[in-house]
Amino acid sequence: MKKWFMVLLAVLLLPPRVAPAQTIFQSGQRIRIFSPLVTEPVKIFVISDTHLFRSDSREDPYRSYSGRMAQAYNVTRHFLTGEKTNPEECLQKTVALAVERGADAIALLGDMVSYPSEAGVEWVKSTLDASGIPWFYTNGNHDWHYEGMEGTESELRDFWTRERLLPLFQGHDPKLYSVEVKGVKLIFLDNGIYEILPEQLSAFRDAVKGKQAKLLFSHIPFYAPGYSPHTSAHPDWGLATDNNYQIERRPPWPAEGPGKVTKDMWKAILKACGKNGLLATFSGHLHSEMHSDVGPWHQFTVAANCVGGYYEVILEPME
Ligand SMILES: [Fe+2]
Repeated sequence: MKKWFMVLLAVLLLPPRVAPAQTIFQSGQRIRIFSPLVTEPVKIFVISDTHLFRSDSREDPYRSYSGRMAQAYNVTRHFLTGEKTNPEECLQKTVALAVERGADAIALLGDMVSYPSEAGVEWVKSTLDASGIPWFYTNGNHDWHYEGMEGTESELRDFWTRERLLPLFQGHDPKLYSVEVKGVKLIFLDNGIYEILPEQLSAFRDAVKGKQAKLLFSHIPFYAPGYSPHTSAHPDWGLATDNNYQIERRPPWPAEGPGKVTKDMWKAILKACGKNGLLATFSGHLHSEMHSDVGPWHQFTVAANCVGGYYEVILEPME
């Protein structure tokens, strides 16, 4: 028999090569993601919605804008034990746990402060710096929001990020930036106004190129069936479902719903998952633990840290 025919026959008779898929195991606050794209174990603590209310005399000119949120989460109850606690105690305990467990990085997903308090921002930075663990931050919808202040959401986010929140970004681009931790790319996206800007979509498309293992962190979750309309790209997001704009004294969401760029970002996230390397996405905002799977896209929402919430995410190689 001809040699070329033997080779062809051998190729045809070989069992099809199935690329090993990732698997996910969750137990309480611990999420283990096993992936062939991960080369060594990586541990990341995920924290969102601490809602610190600390301030000092520098806040005095702004108290008419920050008064309501400054009272919002002063005394809380731990989401597991029901015991009385408070935002500062919760953040300190979570950071101490991250140190004890040997975390490689801490991801802060916004609403760390309930308004752009200088004292609050300084306290977050000093608390995280003291941990000795690399930490990364993105904005929520409250960090930069002064209720009742004139301006569009986008303008006010830009202004107060520049004025107060830049120390938390540590030189990174607040809109979207990536860092690498032990070979895994961590992408931080600011979607605190729900909508995505064209430059964020194009930066995201660049960031997800290549088959490297990646995680996406944003404050607000993205639409998945079952989620509240208070999520980015949700088809029901809009004026009809905006039940907070009066109390938060901000412009209402648009009657026409999410914009095209935001919907395109949703599609780009889905496309980046699975074999393209985006292992999972993490958000906060809704203050409760949630998990959804849409095909290869795994989305986790962490419980608010002001009631003790956090995730310990461990990426592990798949044998
Ligand atoms: Fe929040």
